[in-house]
Parts: sequence; structure tokens; C-alpha cells
Amino acid sequence: MLKQEIEDGQASLADPAFRQDVLRGFDMRPRAIPARWFYDRAGSELFEQITDLPEYYPTRTETAILRACAPEIAARAGEGRAVVEFGSGSSTKTPILLQAVAPAAYVPIDISGDFLRESSAGLASAFPGLDVLPVEADFMHPIALPMQVAATPKLGFFPGSTIGNMIPHSSVDLLRAMKESLGEGAMLVIGMDRIKDAATLEAAYDDAQGVTAAFNLNLLTRINRELAGTIPVERFRHRAIWNDDRARIEMHLEATEDVAFTIEGRPFEMTAGETIHTENSHKYGARDARILLRAGGWTPIAEWTDPEGKFAVILAEAQAARLAP
Ligand code: AVI
Repeated sequence: MLKQEIEDGQASLADPAFRQDVLRGFDMRPRAIPARWFYDRAGSELFEQITDLPEYYPTRTETAILRACAPEIAARAGEGRAVVEFGSGSSTKTPILLQAVAPAAYVPIDISGDFLRESSAGLASAFPGLDVLPVEADFMHPIALPMQVAATPKLGFFPGSTIGNMIPHSSVDLLRAMKESLGEGAMLVIGMDRIKDAATLEAAYDDAQGVTAAFNLNLLTRINRELAGTIPVERFRHRAIWNDDRARIEMHLEATEDVAFTIEGRPFEMTAGETIHTENSHKYGARDARILLRAGGWTPIAEWTDPEGKFAVILAEAQAARLAP
């Protein structure tokens, strides 16, 4: 059958992991699809637009904090470190850190080779003398870094509050994996969004222009395109809800009426009001953030926020082997 489909030009070229997450996610109750699948070309462009929205304060707030604290980070980190970024690098935040730290090398790590190559090329031309050594890998697991930086002390960089998109258990796993990847004597600069009033948070994830709604709904369009889906996208709406118990914004896609559709020929039904959970964005109070870092093997040593305390940039160092309780 597959052979016939290929001959008919109908076989799906989708990532098998995407197919598995979507089909499993629609079978689960409540239904849920991992947020990593938002970022196809259209989704990544919509995310870029989100970062400029008046309601979406994290990007501009973190950028301003980084501008102010980068010299102190550089002073504390000392000279000659390799900056290792978890993610392919942002055109505004990464240069702020690289400019201040004047690193021995820059190692961006990303699972998406395309984004990695694009942003690495941009940074290499902005910093002509800098050794840019991109690594295409899933940073959720420990990674062997390039030979050229094997003996160089590392400064990890994980901005954007991306850690918030993981449940706390996975965040701790990730922090431990980062510690292992970066090695002894490593330091880490990490951005974390703070807990604040529900109205501000819900507006940040449900903007007036509907860009975040388009970003969320694009996941259904992607399923239709890549997995031969027939989901009636116009019969879904975007929801962003503050879950105070779990200290997180949840994004959902809610069916506005009873719907029936197929994905790769498999039938699914949803009743009006049923949702697909598509993203968590956890927020951390000052102490929560420090506990999370310690649980992940990092000791926080300095912390900077904006005047309103909306967002925090934390500098931490890898814990040495523990000798006392
Ligand atoms: C990528 N990540 C940190 C964003 C966030 O704020 O959780 C993703 C996002 N989702 C909706 N708006 C932005």
C-alpha cells in the first residue's frame, strides 16, 4: 500500500515523530500535542511576530535586562569561555551576550538544521573573527561538543524562558543534561518569566491582533498539510488560560461545534467545547527559579530583573560534586 501511495505521489513526507505525536495526542484524554510542532516555517514566522506584540512583554523585557547586565555577566564569567547556546540563536539577544563576553568560540545547538545554518551564518558575518561551530542535535540529551572547544570552559545561554515550555520534571532533566554537555566549571545564563497577574499573562498569550491565535491554529493547518488531515480549522478557536495551581499559561485549541475529520485516513470526532492542549508556559517566582536550578545541578550566583520584576535573567554555575547534605 505504501508503495502504491508513493507511486501516486500521495505518501506523506511528514516527520515520523510528528505523525506519532499527533496520532497519539488525538487518542489521549485530554487531547494534547507537544508545542515543539508549532515551529514549521509559518509557525516560526508567526512566533517572530509574537515577540514584537505590545502584549508579549518577555522578549523586549529580557533583551533590555541583557543589555544592562551583559557587562557584569562578562566580568563574572571571565575571559576565554566558549558560549554554547541552547537553540539556534536570536538576532538580537545573542549579539548582546557575544559582544560583552568576547568568547573563544560560539556553539549554537539546535535540532532544526535549517534555522541553525541561517542564524549561524548571520552571526558569523556579524562577528568576523569568531569561531562559530553549529551543532545539529536535540539538546534535551547530553551532547558531545565540538573538539575545538573540548578544553575551553563553557558559558551556556538559554534565553527566552524556553525552559517554561517544559513541565518541571523535564526542566530538571534538561538542566542536568546541559550541565553534562557543558562540563566542569561551566556557567549558565538563563531567562525565566516570572509569575504575575493573570490578566497580563493571558493578554500576552491572547493578543488583540490575533497573532497568537494564528500561531496556535497553524498547528492544525500543518497537520492537514503534512498528515493529509481534513480538520476544519475554522471550527476551532484559540484559548489561553492561566492555571494558577500549576503556575502556567496553557494554550488550547477548542472545537466551537461538533466536528468529525480524518488524519491520514483515521477518523476522529470532537464535541463542541472539547480542546486539544498545545502548550504550557510555566512562570517562576524568584525562589521557585532558584530551586529549579539547584534541582538541575546549578547554583544561582546572580540575578537581574526589569524594574517591575516581570522577567529574570539568572547566572548560575555548575554544582561541584556534592559532599555535604
Ligand atoms: C518559545 N516560548 C518561550 C514562548 C512562550 O512564551 O512560552 C512560546 C509562545 N507561545 C505563545 N506565545 C509565545
